[in-house]
Amino acid sequence: MKYKDLITKMTLEEKASLMSGKDFWQTQDIERLDINNIFLADGPHGIRKQAEAADHLGLNESLQATCFPTAATVANSWNEELGETMGDYLGKEAVAQKVNVLLGPGINMKRSPLAGRNFEYFSEDPYLAGKLAAGMIRGIQSHGISACVKHFAVNNQEERRMSIDTIVDERTLREIYLTAFEIAVKEGETKTIMSAYNMLNGAYTNENLHIMRDILRGEWDFEGVVVTDWGGSNDRVAGLAAGNELEMPTTAGETNEEIIAAIKNGKIKENILDECVDRLLDLVFTTEEVFKKESKEIDINEHHEMAQRVAEESIVLLKNEDNILPLNKDKKIAVIGDFAKEARYQGAGSSIVNPTFLDNTLDVLKESNIESIGFEQGFDRYGKKSKKKIDEACSLAKEADVVLLYIGLDEVTEAEGLDRENMAIPENQIELLDALFEVNPNIVAVLSCGAAVEIPFINKVKGLVHAYLSGQAGAKAILKILTGDVNPSGKLAESFPVRFEDTPSYHQFPGKEVSVEYREGPFIGYRYYDTANVDVLFPFGYGLSYTTFEYSNIQVNKDGVTFNITNSGEVAGLEVAQLYVGCQSKDIFRPKKELKGFTKVSLHAGETKTVTIPFDDKTFRYFNVKTNQWEIEGADYNIMIGASSSDMRLEDNLFIDGTGAPLPYNKENLPSYYSGKANNVSVEEFETLIGRKVPVATWDRTKPLGYNDTIAQCQYAKGLFARFAFRAIKFSHKFLWKIGKRSTANLIMMSVYHMPFRGMVRMTGGIMNMGMLDGILMVVNGKFFKGMRHLLSERKKMKASKRKLDITTGSSSKGEVL
Ligand code: BGC
Repeated sequence: MKYKDLITKMTLEEKASLMSGKDFWQTQDIERLDINNIFLADGPHGIRKQAEAADHLGLNESLQATCFPTAATVANSWNEELGETMGDYLGKEAVAQKVNVLLGPGINMKRSPLAGRNFEYFSEDPYLAGKLAAGMIRGIQSHGISACVKHFAVNNQEERRMSIDTIVDERTLREIYLTAFEIAVKEGETKTIMSAYNMLNGAYTNENLHIMRDILRGEWDFEGVVVTDWGGSNDRVAGLAAGNELEMPTTAGETNEEIIAAIKNGKIKENILDECVDRLLDLVFTTEEVFKKESKEIDINEHHEMAQRVAEESIVLLKNEDNILPLNKDKKIAVIGDFAKEARYQGAGSSIVNPTFLDNTLDVLKESNIESIGFEQGFDRYGKKSKKKIDEACSLAKEADVVLLYIGLDEVTEAEGLDRENMAIPENQIELLDALFEVNPNIVAVLSCGAAVEIPFINKVKGLVHAYLSGQAGAKAILKILTGDVNPSGKLAESFPVRFEDTPSYHQFPGKEVSVEYREGPFIGYRYYDTANVDVLFPFGYGLSYTTFEYSNIQVNKDGVTFNITNSGEVAGLEVAQLYVGCQSKDIFRPKKELKGFTKVSLHAGETKTVTIPFDDKTFRYFNVKTNQWEIEGADYNIMIGASSSDMRLEDNLFIDGTGAPLPYNKENLPSYYSGKANNVSVEEFETLIGRKVPVATWDRTKPLGYNDTIAQCQYAKGLFARFAFRAIKFSHKFLWKIGKRSTANLIMMSVYHMPFRGMVRMTGGIMNMGMLDGILMVVNGKFFKGMRHLLSERKKMKASKRKLDITTGSSSKGEVL
């Protein structure tokens, strides 16, 4: 232990006190030992430091900070260095705002296009997500503070996010859902990890000994701190035993007491606590160093420009028929669409940033040399139909050479805490597009949203630019792409299926009650479409440029692939070359090919460069469930260089010696996996894959409700009062939605409906304790009077003990009593 001497001087109570927050954002300090508190703040694409009222849902305003493009956007840059530069800028701002731990990046896999937080995550591919995250972490931590990679792990739906049990087989867990974290730990050297809210194969992630101890500490040698997601602690002692140092936010000491009791009664050994304290102290001492130096002012203009640069490299050109783009400067352009007036540039929830500036297209249009003949809103952002708006837009469109149409998803559709209901763009926007097409078929659509959407109108647009959520300077970046001042170089970090029904997890997303079964196994995203031969609209890795690139002269040896790329067009550009590897043996099921490397090359017109993509420890490995370790199958491998996952430009073969491990599967029993058609696997076949029975996925409606059941389950509670409360919640949600208070309606779902009962205690910073919750649960379970008596007597006890504490410490307690 690094801080053994200091820890020896600490009392048991002091040690336990460090294991949970002092308030919503800070850790506990111990003055007598010169241990300061540290500040943790969101988020992944900009700092959300709340100086006053604190919350984890992005409700109360935070200090101003640069809002960079969200992870879903940055991922399209396929540029690890750019990720590092963005991290560097985030790190500078975090230091300026005295933030020790920046809660990001988020690196969960996009299992379904509907997952509510996809806009905050990088990709459906773990290699790409891991590399970009590692870059960002290095950038942030270059300032001496800590990044906090999240949410560890397998956190891929918002529905019942604090209680859902994700059932996934070991190989898929390793190859798909943990690999990005592995890269973030080993290559990014993140100092902090945030555990996820959900359960994984029957245990809450922060209590899950397999991922927390065997893998994170055992295999990856992680020496940093694990912090719970806010309010995500279930059994504090079990979490500590698994190596979860910090619980956030404060529980006003309640769970510290649990730790103390567990040590006193021998449930856990004190040295486990000491080790956790040691790692937490390291985080405190190493991340506070930077604040001892003189602080530097941030040049917010420079940061704004950097946000624009990141967006420029991340925007994806998806269609360019008749070379309608770049926009010829003499053409008359009609700008149509609500999003041109008010940019959609970030998502909602804990990642929300209070931007230093905000560029809107209409305000910055003049600087772009676009010859605009006018603007029409065309549609109402929240889906109300308006014939008048369509007519006005069509009149303007008739006068134009090209229609520039800004469409997308609104602010409440993509939000933390809620999954999307479908992949559609609102009907009223499609109607507008149809009408515009009738009067002027020269349409360039600019899409603003943080995820894959269905694009049924693809044949009605000549140009399509996916701007994703491009941050506070996104509007300018989009215009630079449209005018050709910047040659687009973004490529999709996720597949665009034709229809939602085509997605591999279609039948198993989201889990609605107890669990969600990842029956598609490793076949997520392009791994599925490619292997099962399902057509997509735009494949993973796809993106156009205003120039063309030719690939030649592939040379493969045991260390990697070398090849030439030539810019065969008229203008300078950047090309993302992608290395895919496929195994020719059919003994172990696998995706047809998997991304194993990439590089982004800058080329002048006519220039050729020779590039090498090296192989690494992940190029040929697979996880063998029989030997329970990574192995290599001795076989011939296809080594492919592609401009996207479905556009292979160069190919060669390489034989690789294997590790000689026994075959892990019996082919006959796993037909869907061996064919790759894994979108509708039977429960029996899935059970064969995971090697055990799956837990019952539905609620046992006869059981009384407990700490981990959610408020939504009050619908079948014994207590009349609880059932009434459920109806009232449902009604208020509907009502608020109807009267246009959509964010508030969402909030109800997010922070009440899907909240487990224990959240009432964990999220209220000491206003309530578990004893009081027991009373509430009695009421919920039909024992109204007994429950109320219990609640009141527990409240009285809590008040009394707080008073006693105040007298002994001479301070006023942090937690208020109801
Ligand atoms: C989110 C985290 C976030 C935390 C603090 C939680 O609701 O899941 O991503 O960092 O709140 O705001």
